Amino acid sequence: MSLFAVLFAAAAAATPSSISQAQASVGNCTTNSFTVPSWYVREFHSASGAVTLDLQNRASNSTASLTCQTGNATSTWSKCASKENTASLDASVQLSGGAAAAAGVQVRQTWVCDDRNTTKPIAFTASGNASLSLTCASNTCTSTDPLVLVRGTLHSPVENVSPAYASGPDGHDKPGCGARSKDPTWELGTIVYLNETGDGSSAIASQSIQFQVVNTAIGYTAGCLNYFAVAPGEDPAVRMVCGGGVDFTRRERYSIRTETVFYPRSRQFGINQTWFCDDADAARPVMISATGNTTLSLDCTTDGTSTACQADKAMVRGSVLSEEPLPAYSIEDPLPTPDGCTISSIVAPSWTQSNFEVDKNATATSAGESPASVSFNMKLKTQANLFDYPVFVNQDNVLLEDAGEKWWPCSFGAGEEPSAPKQCSFRYSEKDARLELKADWVCFDLDANHPIMFSGVTATTLPKLNCATSSSTALSRCATDPDSTWQSDMANVTWRTVTSL
Ligand SMILES: *[C@@H]1O[C@H](CO)[C@@H](O)[C@H](O)[C@H]1NC(C)=O
Ligand SMILES: *[C@@H]1O[C@H](CO)[C@@H](O)[C@H](O)[C@H]1NC(C)=O
Ligand SMILES: *[C@@H]1O[C@H](CO)[C@@H](O)[C@H](O)[C@H]1NC(C)=O
Ligand SMILES: *[C@@H]1O[C@H](CO)[C@@H](O)[C@H](O)[C@H]1NC(C)=O
Ligand SMILES: *[C@@H]1O[C@H](CO)[C@@H](O)[C@H](O)[C@H]1NC(C)=O
Ligand SMILES: *[C@@H]1O[C@H](CO)[C@@H](O)[C@H](O)[C@H]1NC(C)=O
Ligand SMILES: *[C@@H]1O[C@H](CO)[C@@H](O)[C@H](O)[C@H]1NC(C)=O
Ligand SMILES: *[C@@H]1O[C@H](CO)[C@@H](O)[C@H](O)[C@H]1NC(C)=O
Ligand SMILES: *[C@@H]1O[C@H](CO)[C@@H](O)[C@H](O)[C@H]1NC(C)=O
Ligand SMILES: *[C@@H]1O[C@H](CO)[C@@H](O)[C@H](O)[C@H]1NC(C)=O
Repeated sequence: MSLFAVLFAAAAAATPSSISQAQASVGNCTTNSFTVPSWYVREFHSASGAVTLDLQNRASNSTASLTCQTGNATSTWSKCASKENTASLDASVQLSGGAAAAAGVQVRQTWVCDDRNTTKPIAFTASGNASLSLTCASNTCTSTDPLVLVRGTLHSPVENVSPAYASGPDGHDKPGCGARSKDPTWELGTIVYLNETGDGSSAIASQSIQFQVVNTAIGYTAGCLNYFAVAPGEDPAVRMVCGGGVDFTRRERYSIRTETVFYPRSRQFGINQTWFCDDADAARPVMISATGNTTLSLDCTTDGTSTACQADKAMVRGSVLSEEPLPAYSIEDPLPTPDGCTISSIVAPSWTQSNFEVDKNATATSAGESPASVSFNMKLKTQANLFDYPVFVNQDNVLLEDAGEKWWPCSFGAGEEPSAPKQCSFRYSEKDARLELKADWVCFDLDANHPIMFSGVTATTLPKLNCATSSSTALSRCATDPDSTWQSDMANVTWRTVTSL
């Protein structure tokens, strides 16, 4: 039985009727279950000893309408029942009394995704909790935020993994972001304007402007630089899209955009910037666009054909052009990304192998007289690899006479440990060109604090080996075509969350 069948059987055994109800093949169910296991709480009302709320699972998109009999109790958890009678959903609420009306919501749910392969569904279990602030009128309280996000921790198929959200554009949650952004101010630093006229031979004519600009509401710094040419009598608009805050993770939904303009003769300066704030309430993020301008006062010194003008600092005051609300909680919500280490290792574990080579002493006759050297390249097959190059594996003491009985430990190329499996061993049968590999590898792309250690085995029949023997060294070298790669699907893959590596 495959691992996935085992998972599915276990989940089905736990809650036979509910699983099929919770089964979902909506777009990206598997990806979303691994990356954003979470729920939305809507329609939270508390009145006459009962709480009602709607819960939507963001991965499976299943919804449940819940009623929780709280009575007059505060500070105790009351279980909720759903109209849909979903046994795979466990939810409870807690009201806190007094003037600061608040509530806690706890959720635990099991669901199944079959969007990757309908015959290989994956069962997920996650739990999470959130606090809500309530707005009360007479005897009825309602959640202050119409939509509340409950972030989850996965318990199955991986245990105790809390997938990381995106960090969001710089400064979005800095206290005061929203309030200070009403009166936008920028601070320019290290402003350098160079006017090099050239001498017609060795020194070439060039003009450049550079500076840093800090948005004081969010503490975000952009760097601006441009090279340009100015014809006599002209004062052209030198426009720059300034850099900073590059998202190497490709998970960010929003990024700060900074555009500036500089007029070299009149020293007029203008800025347009778009940034984001959700410091007051993550359920109510805003996108702010503002503009500002000033005339820069620069000190110039001329040295031969070059004039350098600079200023340490300049303040620019501006005004807000627009403030647009964004979808609730969208700032730290990651974009769906291609499968990374963890998802690939569970959904379709496979090594991409290449460059298999055996070097041996062609004149050695007796068994064990001269060990062979075996090497190959391997890489986890995944779409978002932290290290996008294969690991070089080798072992210099392979006894080929052993005929694929003994497991030889892998050693890795210098400096390759970070991308290499935690450990691996292989055995090789020359007669039937069979390479078997056992490996333990680690993924921490979902939750850096809870790495997952995987173990699996593969067996491959190698592509054709081309052999040649050197007459001078009597060394026989057999290798696969240097351009060929092959997939080695892993079997019997198991995993567990580890506390340290
Ligand atoms: C999710 O469910 C809601 C209502 O329950 C529906 O309107 C929406 O289209 C669904 N989304 C997907 C992607 O199926
Ligand atoms: C809740 O408290 C009110 C007034 O204190 C009382 O009349 C009512 O019976 C209580 N309800 C429950 C379910 O305990
Ligand atoms: C789906 O899973 C089944 C059962 O494990 C397997 O035989 C089949 O090849 C898979 N299909 C795809 C498209 O991966
Ligand atoms: C969720 O529960 C944990 C443990 O009880 C608690 O420490 C945490 O503050 C809770 N989180 C929220 C958002 O209520
Ligand atoms: C650059 O320097 C040259 C020589 O001093 C001058 O003629 C020219 O006007 C300057 N350009 C600007 C844009 O100030
Ligand atoms: C800012 O935006 C306005 C309106 O789109 C445009 O006219 C202006 O040139 C822009 N300024 C800068 C510095 O990009
Ligand atoms: C420069 O800013 C002032 C207010 O600070 C504004 O009145 C003026 O229109 C701005 N000029 C340009 C070119 O944007
Ligand atoms: C599903 O994920 C892909 C990237 O893996 C993304 O391009 C697409 O927009 C996602 N679809 C939905 C409905 O989220
Ligand atoms: C190869 O084996 C022969 C015979 O045992 C031996 O004399 C020779 O030194 C070996 N060559 C190498 C490079 O190990
Ligand atoms: C996977 O495990 C089963 C049962 O232990 C074993 O029979 C099988 O040979 C293993 N598969 C591989 C490729 O090692």
